[in-house]
Amino acid sequence: MEIQGKQYHTIWLQKNSTNIVEVIDQRKLPFQFEVFEMKTVEDAFFAIKEMVVRGAPLIGVTAAYGMYLALLQTERSELEFVIKSKADYLKASRPTAVNLAFAVDCMTDFILENQNDENLLEQTLEKAHQLKAEEIEFSSKIGDFGLEIIEQIYQKKKDTVNILTHCNAGWLACIDWGTATAPIYKAHLKGIPVHVWVDETRPRNQGARLTAYELGEQGVPHTVIPDNTGGHLMQHGMVDLVIVGSDRTSVTGDVANKIGTYLKALAAHDNNIPFYVALPSSTFDWEIEDGVKQIPIEQRDPGEVSEIEGWTKTGIQNVRLIPENSKVANYGFDVTPARLVSGLITERGVCSANRKSILKLFPEKKS
Ligand code: MRU
Repeated sequence: MEIQGKQYHTIWLQKNSTNIVEVIDQRKLPFQFEVFEMKTVEDAFFAIKEMVVRGAPLIGVTAAYGMYLALLQTERSELEFVIKSKADYLKASRPTAVNLAFAVDCMTDFILENQNDENLLEQTLEKAHQLKAEEIEFSSKIGDFGLEIIEQIYQKKKDTVNILTHCNAGWLACIDWGTATAPIYKAHLKGIPVHVWVDETRPRNQGARLTAYELGEQGVPHTVIPDNTGGHLMQHGMVDLVIVGSDRTSVTGDVANKIGTYLKALAAHDNNIPFYVALPSSTFDWEIEDGVKQIPIEQRDPGEVSEIEGWTKTGIQNVRLIPENSKVANYGFDVTPARLVSGLITERGVCSANRKSILKLFPEKKS
């Protein structure tokens, strides 16, 4: 996707280097465009934990490169012990997005299986590149399948398709295209008129800051709304479709996504509006049966709620929003039960949010 007309991915290897990985620093957007360098596994941990990078697919790919950086720092004699402990360390950075564990396990298995290979470093780097390329391909295919849903609505309505999204499940949360945004970008490129209602997404405002920014950079019409506006818009026929991303989806179709997603699903259900979740296969948790009971929900720094960050004449600043002694709660995610989900848009096609339909698309996961 583009920033100021220039093509970017969200993560890449520094030019002429094999030991520095660079990412777009999402803490600064949309106010400043800065690149953050990762030279060690500790840098990758910091980038994930502090949300320099965020969004399930990008968290996964950052962790994959993080495991490569861990290998660069490791003596061959202690490889197995160090790699396993760095894997556990990275996995603890953010608990909800399952892409993190998926990518770390994938890299750990690869490193341990090939530990006696003289080209281990080059091959491990290649493996991280491969996971990155796969995520790009998955997002693009999600875009193709989701485009069909938007096209159908457009053919009936013959007017602008209004899509509501929550948080940032855009290309900034992935490597390219995005998950929830991929169908929107593909529709826009095809000339279908689309307009996006962007939930601001308190407390970190990923909608207001990141989704609005990336849609703007690609020229997609959009309007930022406070988080509690969606229900009103739906009651008045101003939303044709909801598409969100996911951080972890159970094999039974329950969807963990940014806090507030569940309320949008309830409102969509009450107003008979299709509610789709776009996700790559790396976001499925094949072990979890009951998303509400079993998906771990990250609790974040109370400061994200008690303060708000914005742009002033002197740069990015925080201001306090609440009385000094009031307590705050900061749950990062919630779980939307499968019964409220109209369909899952994956790289293999669209399926219903239930075990049978999901496993029909991914039969190799049946065991
Ligand atoms: O806390 P974040 O910003 O990492 O949360 C991101 C989301 O909830 C996204 O909607 C989700 O990861 C899907 S990303 C394609």
